Amino acid sequence: MFEAKEVIKELQEMRDEGHLSDALLRRAVRRIKASDSRFDWVGVYLLNPEKSELWLHNYVGSPTEHAKIPVGQGVCGTAVSTASNQNVPDVSKVDNYLACGPDVKAELVVLIRAGDDIFGELDLDSGKLGAFNAQDEAAVQTVADKLAEQLVAERR
Ligand code: SME
Repeated sequence: MFEAKEVIKELQEMRDEGHLSDALLRRAVRRIKASDSRFDWVGVYLLNPEKSELWLHNYVGSPTEHAKIPVGQGVCGTAVSTASNQNVPDVSKVDNYLACGPDVKAELVVLIRAGDDIFGELDLDSGKLGAFNAQDEAAVQTVADKLAEQLVAERR
């Protein structure tokens, strides 16, 4: 299971030292990717509300052609249009799935949000069917919430 506690601590320390969201988003992606061998691709998409698109901020894993994803499309865009996390055990069952690579079997998308305000999302891919459980989602959510704290602070 992915343990978020250490990552949260590290992100808060970075905040205390004055690091901004760009650094935190990069650190979070690297730490989540390294934490568990089930996680084959981990990235962050940020929402561009004017264009109604998700833009890829940073990732670890194979390059993807989906650097921009319209809201409503794919697992990532559906998370935003429905304002809900997506835990997809088998991506072959999703009609509007946007393939990142041929080996991806499962995907977890966790929103980075402050209430109704959606900043973006953490996106995890795995080559293992049903890779992600509810505990993974909850743990990734705590990381997303810490990132949202910083994004809110920078918006002021
Ligand atoms: N599979 C995603 C696209 C992003 S890639 O996985 C990096 C989707 O269906 O939205």
